[in-house]
Amino acid sequence: MKAHLTHPVFQIVSDLCHSSGQPSYVIGGFVRDIVLKRECKDIDIVVQGNGIELAKQTANKLGDNIKVNIFKNFGTAMLNYNDYNIEFVGARKESYNRDSRKPIVETGSLEDDQKRRDFTINALAISLNKEDFGTFVDPFDGIGDIEKRIIRTPLDPDITYSDDPLRMMRAVRFASQLNFSIHSDSLKSIENNCDRIKIVSQERITDELNKIILSDKPSIGFRILFNTGLLHIIFPEMVRLQGVDIKDGKAHKDNFYHTLQVLDNICLNTDNLWLRWAAILHDIAKPATKRFEQEHGWTFHGHEDKGARMVPRIFKNLKLPLNDKMKYVQKLVLLHLRPIALAQSHVTDSAIRRLLFECGDDIDDLMTLCSADITSKNENKVKRYLQNFELVKQKLHEVEEKDKLRNWQPPISGQTIIETFNLKPGKQIGVLKSAIREAILEGEIANTFDGAFAFMLIKGKELGLEPTNQTKKQKE
Ligand code: CTP
Repeated sequence: MKAHLTHPVFQIVSDLCHSSGQPSYVIGGFVRDIVLKRECKDIDIVVQGNGIELAKQTANKLGDNIKVNIFKNFGTAMLNYNDYNIEFVGARKESYNRDSRKPIVETGSLEDDQKRRDFTINALAISLNKEDFGTFVDPFDGIGDIEKRIIRTPLDPDITYSDDPLRMMRAVRFASQLNFSIHSDSLKSIENNCDRIKIVSQERITDELNKIILSDKPSIGFRILFNTGLLHIIFPEMVRLQGVDIKDGKAHKDNFYHTLQVLDNICLNTDNLWLRWAAILHDIAKPATKRFEQEHGWTFHGHEDKGARMVPRIFKNLKLPLNDKMKYVQKLVLLHLRPIALAQSHVTDSAIRRLLFECGDDIDDLMTLCSADITSKNENKVKRYLQNFELVKQKLHEVEEKDKLRNWQPPISGQTIIETFNLKPGKQIGVLKSAIREAILEGEIANTFDGAFAFMLIKGKELGLEPTNQTKKQKE
């Protein structure tokens, strides 16, 4: 393993610990990622002694301007060198939980420290001591578990998860990120203890949830969250999508598993967390809008509109940002049926213009969402949809080239309307503005100043408005 310990910090720590007689090890995610051949920029060093002292001495050796951040309560210290975050900690007997408010006091041996970590794959250490520098210290067979692709706790899972219930989410996150399975004892324990997730802060839970969503195939994580009962606690709206109703022999699809497929589909085409969130939420209001109609069978009328209105509450509960990211997700949920509706009928220019106008720059993302939403098992149907979609995309492109409606700004401002008719601010300005917008979207006039100005004069006349003398003169 020596070949992987090229960062200068390892040799420095090794020398310092040799002089002080305090054994030290690199541990946790950095070691796991060496075995997994993944890049890792976070180095955790554990010392059987004083972690803060060791950090200070290491910083001195690394250079003059290296700043050490000390967290006295937890006996940890952190420094940054060459893009790497390096954290030092004294080996301890209690659980390794950097977010706990409980100060860590009792020092311990390396093995005490390892068994209080979350998973065997994260409890792996490599010695930095002179006599066996670069050797694995792996009392819980973390390497074997990496080979078997399994997430297992070093201790009885009930103890490991009760030390920090967030670890239940972390287990699911690692399973999803690494495509590992969770050991059956661990799964049982998560099922039994899932209620304890309630004592963890929403920010930490959502952080893990977002990491699951950003994994290559998030359905792996969501299925485990659902099967263990965690999802019922952290995101009940999504659980309500699950299930199939049958009436008069007619069944609708299971919207939970459909949503997971849309999410996996979209992940092949985007790393954008918020576009992935739009996939999760696109059908979120289906349970609330579900009806059975004799003629049509199951319907979900208005689910896109209601879904968009549910987004802020869901974002608030999950402590996701209530800013333009939320607005973006809301917009995509609201518009997610539009391209499909277009693809099914004769595609008119005005329908395309309206979609461009409402969607603006997010039109490509909307098309990505809609393509991911085609999950039919009928290959012919999928083929037909995708072909129609190509047509819609081509039309969108043509109309955009011609009319430049993506980020539409009205060619006539409210101020121009006021000056032309010598108006006081009021209702008539809004009426004229929306008449101009409608005429442009319907293709009755061009999206230019001149076209819109001439139209405004005609519309003004209909409203009994006369342009000022100055405007008349300018016209002449
Ligand atoms: N750890 C733990 N229990 C937790 C959090 C962390 O035992 N609730 C331990 C694990 O040994 C872990 C190490 O602390 O490897 C570092 O934690 P962290 O940096 O949060 O995660 P990583 O495992 O490095 O993974 P990632 O960087 O992907 O978050």
